[in-house]
Amino acid sequence: MSLPRVLCFHLILMLSAFTGAANGYYWSGWRECIHSSRDFSDMVYIINYIFNKDVFIQFNSTVGEFVGYTELGVYNADLWNKDPNQLQQARAEVDRVCKHNAEIRQTAITDKTVAPKVKLSSVTQAGGRHPAVLMCSAYRFYPHGIKVSWMRDGAVVKTDVTSTEEMPNGDWYYQIHSHLEYTPKSGEKISCAVDHAGLTKPIIIDWDPSLPESERNKIAIGASGLVLGIIIAAAGLIYYKKKSSGRILVPT
Ligand SMILES: *[C@@H]1O[C@H](CO)[C@@H](O)[C@H](O)[C@H]1NC(C)=O
Repeated sequence: MSLPRVLCFHLILMLSAFTGAANGYYWSGWRECIHSSRDFSDMVYIINYIFNKDVFIQFNSTVGEFVGYTELGVYNADLWNKDPNQLQQARAEVDRVCKHNAEIRQTAITDKTVAPKVKLSSVTQAGGRHPAVLMCSAYRFYPHGIKVSWMRDGAVVKTDVTSTEEMPNGDWYYQIHSHLEYTPKSGEKISCAVDHAGLTKPIIIDWDPSLPESERNKIAIGASGLVLGIIIAAAGLIYYKKKSSGRILVPT
């Protein structure tokens, strides 16, 4: 496995939400931990206190103290900042809560790898420069960071290759589709190679220019029908022969 592990995810961990309502007024709050680096060095811890949709006090671990945004907010933020216990506790939570939880999540989810499933198929195309197009698809891999390459008789092909982005499925998995436009030559070997963090060695699939599976299935179904027809016809013929040989011809 030679690919560098590319990990660039943005994880927002919502720790808790607290709400309350009285006399048509509504207050709520939430805390979140935000980071995108693997070592959590950019971890930011935010506590928001909200009254009727407006944040009136916020603690941002980068700022390091409570900030008030309304008269009441400024008053309370000032009180909380003067309370060493409360301030120390809020400052410590970026390590105690955010990094601690992020580490658990990282080992449980984001450090895992799932190898792709690779499929090579022929696709019809609308007016390209070459008559044939092959599509190499890699499905259900995690994390993103995959290498899909084409080879013709062992040599890497760079031209006439187009690829989609690594598309997120929305369920942590990704997929990608790479197309190769080519002019078929007899005896030539075309292969697609896929390398990913979940693989110990690249998956290489050679293109089999014989009939695709769907065509083979049609032929198989047709052939089975033919065989069944012949069996029924033969059985009928045998039955008919038996019947007619048992009949006695009566001279008139
Ligand atoms: C936290 O504070 C830093 C420094 O002021 C700022 O760059 C960052 O955008 C703030 N984060 C949020 C979520 O407000």
